[in-house]
This record gives sequence, C-alpha cells and structure tokens, in this order.
Amino acid sequence: MPLFARKKDLEVDETGARSGLRDVAWPESGVRIRQMDDADLGRILELRSVVRWSADPRAFDLLRGVRDARWAVAEAPGAVLAGMVGAVPLGSIGVLCHLAVRDGYRGLGLGAALSSWAVAYLKSRGAKTVRLYATRQAEGLYRSLGFRASAARTVYRLEEASRPPGPPRRADGYEVGTLTFAGLPELYGVDRWGYGADRSHLVFATLRLHPGNGLVARDSSGRIKGYLIRSAGGDAIRLGPFVAATPYVARLLLARALGETGPSPVRVIVPGPEDCPAHAVLREFGFRGRKDRLLMELGGPNDPPAGLVHYGTTPYLAT
Ligand SMILES: CC(C)(COP(=O)(O)OP(=O)(O)OC[C@H]1O[C@@H](n2cnc3c(N)ncnc32)[C@H](O)[C@@H]1OP(=O)(O)O)[C@@H](O)C(=O)NCCC(=O)NCCS
Repeated sequence: MPLFARKKDLEVDETGARSGLRDVAWPESGVRIRQMDDADLGRILELRSVVRWSADPRAFDLLRGVRDARWAVAEAPGAVLAGMVGAVPLGSIGVLCHLAVRDGYRGLGLGAALSSWAVAYLKSRGAKTVRLYATRQAEGLYRSLGFRASAARTVYRLEEASRPPGPPRRADGYEVGTLTFAGLPELYGVDRWGYGADRSHLVFATLRLHPGNGLVARDSSGRIKGYLIRSAGGDAIRLGPFVAATPYVARLLLARALGETGPSPVRVIVPGPEDCPAHAVLREFGFRGRKDRLLMELGGPNDPPAGLVHYGTTPYLAT
C-alpha cells in the first residue's frame, strides 16, 4: 500500500507559501517534506552516497552558497532522512538537482513529492523553465510530472598523457589569456547572453575554488569570444564552463588548457545534441564520449540565444 496514494492526506503549511517554500506532511506515514536546515547537514552526508555527486564533496557546499538556492528534505519518523532535493534559481531557468531517496523509501511517491516541492519553489522565483539532468532511474518520474526529454548529454574523456603542443598566445587576431577576477563582470554579461540565464554565482564560485585556472579568448577588438575554467576533481581535470563563439576559438582554448594540464585525464561534459560542434572538436583532440543523463525540461524550451556554443557544462551544477 503506497504511503502517499491519497492526495487528501496531504497537509500544506501555508506559512511558507509566499516564498514558495511549503512544508508538506502525510499524517498517516509521518513523513514530512520541509526545508533543509543546518542540523540536517550531518545526515545529508550519509544520504549523499546515494547519488553520483558524492564524488565531489565540494559540489553541495558550493551550491548551497548560490543565492536563493533552497533544499528540501523528507524526514521519516525516527529522524530518518529519507530523501532530499535541491532547487537553484538562475532567473528564467531554474535547476532541479540532487534528488535522492533512500532505498527503503523508494517507489512510494517521495521522489515525485520532493520534485514538486522544487518545481513550486523555482516557479515562485520566476523560473519559466525548470531544467534537470535525469538518471535513467528517474526519467519516468519526471515524465509523470510533465517534464519533456531533450538531448542526452555526453561525457568525454581524454585518457592519454599525450597532449598537443601549447598553441601561440595569439592566433588570427585572437588572444587567449588567463581569466582574472577583474574580467568577471564582462564575462558574466557574455555568459548570461549565451546561456539565457544568470550563472554568475556558479562561475564565480568555481573560479574561487580554482583561482588562476580560467582562460578567456578575445578577438582583435578585445571582445570575449570564449572562455573555460579548469578544475581538479575526482580522477580527472574537468573543463567547464567551456563556451566559444566558433570551433576555431574552442580549439584555441582547448589546446591551451590541455597544454597546461599535464598528464592527468581530462573530462568535458557536453550538454548539446549530436549536431553541436563541440562533439567534432573534442573528438579531433582524441576525446572519447559516452552518453550520460538526459536533459529534461518543464515549461521550456528555453533555447539560448544564437552566438555562443556550450562545449562544456559547469562542473558543480550541470547547467
Ligand atoms: C530516482 C529516485 C529519486 C526516485 O525516488 P522515489 O521516491 O522512488 O520516486 P517515486 O516514488 O516518486 O517514483 C518512483 C516510481 O514509483 C512510482 N510511484 C510513485 N508513487 C506511487 C504510488 N503511490 N503507487 C505506486 N507507484 C508509485 C512512480 O510512478 C515511479 O515509477 P516509474 O519509475 O516507473 O516512473 C530514487 O530512485 C533515487 O534516489 N535514485 C538514486 C539517485 C537518482 O537517480 N536520483 C535522480 C537524479 S536526477
């Protein structure tokens, strides 16, 4: 007998309604969905092992620092943390992330309830599109909530120690240099235009964790035509966000980044479909890809404006 079969059992605490943060409780089961607080952090550590992002413990901390990001937990009797979800508003796009339900509590509707909590919060913060990257296991659940599938993202890896020779700093009027904090305001504007939403907090936090590891490509008039940030995590160096106006600029950035990484494996997660030029450029450099999670959207599509192509996602939140 499902715990959450009866909608009338649902109790909503209207005190949080204005901010879109409502506590939800099922009196029969005693499970309550509520906003996460600091006292939950210890138990979250245990739950993190359920989902993949446990690979990088900094991800959760970084995302908690994003302005207006909110988290919900499902608490079962006995102070058991049965599930969690994250909701990160980036203006017109809201990202649902880190959905996880503990083994013994699955198939009861908790995943759907946590997701609905996140969707309601993101909409209350002005999101027109809610975006996520679904595991195979969660696809059906998201479809039942109205999410539509888009492209599967591709995880590329370059295993070999062989690296192309470092390219010249200047080529065909383009100059590739180190991204500095002073250059960030301009980059935020370009990124917002290219992505279609405000990722400035993520870009800043990533660069703060990996200072000196950003590269920016400018044309002869000094305008930003591409950028990428390198970050060490897990068993590979991760490139992302990685954005470029043309494949030529992407090659310049990539060659420079690889020239500076040494022999470690390198990983790039390409968000775009198969006709995105990112795939051809990465394969040219010897990267090999495998299909990964499915991009799903609710309320979209929110296609980024033409101009900049996304070669790699951000490392801690796949945007
Ligand atoms: C994916 C995950 C979060 C789902 O959590 P869950 O609590 O089991 O989710 P739900 O119970 O809401 O839905 C799961 C299934 O049970 C079904 N279900 C939900 N409520 C039900 C009910 N009252 N009666 C019968 N079936 C029900 C759903 O339709 C869904 O079926 P489907 O998978 O065939 O679409 C959980 O399996 C998990 O943590 N997996 C590992 C981490 C992960 O993959 N996270 C997703 C990241 S995108």
